[in-house]
Amino acid sequence: MSYFAKVRVSLKYMMATIDTISNHPQLSEQTKSLISTALNSFEENFSKEPCAVALAPGRVNLIGEHIDYCDGFVLPMAIDRYIVFVTAPNDDNVIRCIDASLLGEPAVEIPIDCDLEISTPKWANYLRGVVDGYFKKGMVPKSGFDVFITSNVPKGGGLSSSAALEMAMAFALKVNGAEDSQSVSTEQRALISQHAEHTFAGVPCGIMDQFASAFGQKDQLTLIDCRSQDVELVPFTDESLSIVIANTNVSHELNDGEYASRRQQTEDGLRILAKPSWRDVSLDEVVASKEQMDELTYKRSVHVVGEISRTIQAAEALKANNSKKFGELMKSSHKSLRDDFEVSCPELDTMVDIALELADKYGVLGSRMTGGGFGGSTVSLVASQNVDSFIDELSSLYQQATGITPEIFASRPATGAQAIGM
Ligand code: GLA
Repeated sequence: MSYFAKVRVSLKYMMATIDTISNHPQLSEQTKSLISTALNSFEENFSKEPCAVALAPGRVNLIGEHIDYCDGFVLPMAIDRYIVFVTAPNDDNVIRCIDASLLGEPAVEIPIDCDLEISTPKWANYLRGVVDGYFKKGMVPKSGFDVFITSNVPKGGGLSSSAALEMAMAFALKVNGAEDSQSVSTEQRALISQHAEHTFAGVPCGIMDQFASAFGQKDQLTLIDCRSQDVELVPFTDESLSIVIANTNVSHELNDGEYASRRQQTEDGLRILAKPSWRDVSLDEVVASKEQMDELTYKRSVHVVGEISRTIQAAEALKANNSKKFGELMKSSHKSLRDDFEVSCPELDTMVDIALELADKYGVLGSRMTGGGFGGSTVSLVASQNVDSFIDELSSLYQQATGITPEIFASRPATGAQAIGM
């Protein structure tokens, strides 16, 4: 195809893409503006027209923590914060990625036609893992492609920026033809991404983050049964309630061993209980096995069975419009994560304590740490009419207490990973 013919084709795609984005019923104005900035940056950096956009949200988990790898239930939602990939084919056999936050550094190049290995820069391993996962299943894009990456998901904030990177790459591969030879389900894309996290980032994570980013829907929480991998959407449409996410700005590295050790301890507990799945274990059975367990294994086991039960109750409470009960369950979840599972940290506890001290003043129903822990974010359920004042006061009291400036924002459940434009 001549250069001019290529430009015309790509312009046609571009116009259709812009049209779809500006009329997209599920994307917020904030996200549309993020995409529009990314489209311009693509042109500036690659000196050509973009063809398509792939985007994936971060997530916040409302309840059900550290039990996705225990066959439990989790109740996360996709947040209105996205990683956006703007892409167009190139004439090489590589995926060439430029990240907006790393301008000036060399583009990352990932070959499309061979097995891949862990390499540098480290952040690109999430991408390599997904490309390799597709390659190993015989799914290769039609050609290499260029990608410009823009994000407003806080990095290291416990809001699954890594799952968003993986899911956005899966959709970038899709729009560049990698799925043309076989149909790939939402679940399969999420599982390839989870596998990438295991093999290329060294984190033996469960399925929650990738599933939340993949299955997210506007105004819906995703109740995930991590044993059957079924997803049930639970409406969160009460405008009088808001979800506030508070990033402590204390960062965590889940591959530093603490996450893997927690997972190992739950496996030890289940082995002592001699049950095939945590879903078949009651609190009474854990208590009855106390003598056979060391103290740590016992505490971890108490958390797992308690959190599975709390999550089921929380989903029911929400369906019955009982937000007070939902809030109480969030508080118990935090205590269990702090005292029995020991994955909180002083900054998370401070953020939760302050939020709960402001309960009467602003109508805070519940608050807890969210995600892997050891830093990252908290999530609070708050009366919408007070949400701005709550955010201001939480922010200034946290700063006074810790000397750290937090990042606090409200988000409603948002739409999941997708591609636009081809
Ligand atoms: C991290 C992992 C998830 C999950 C949470 C804790 O986010 O990636 O799979 O285990 O921690 O609930």
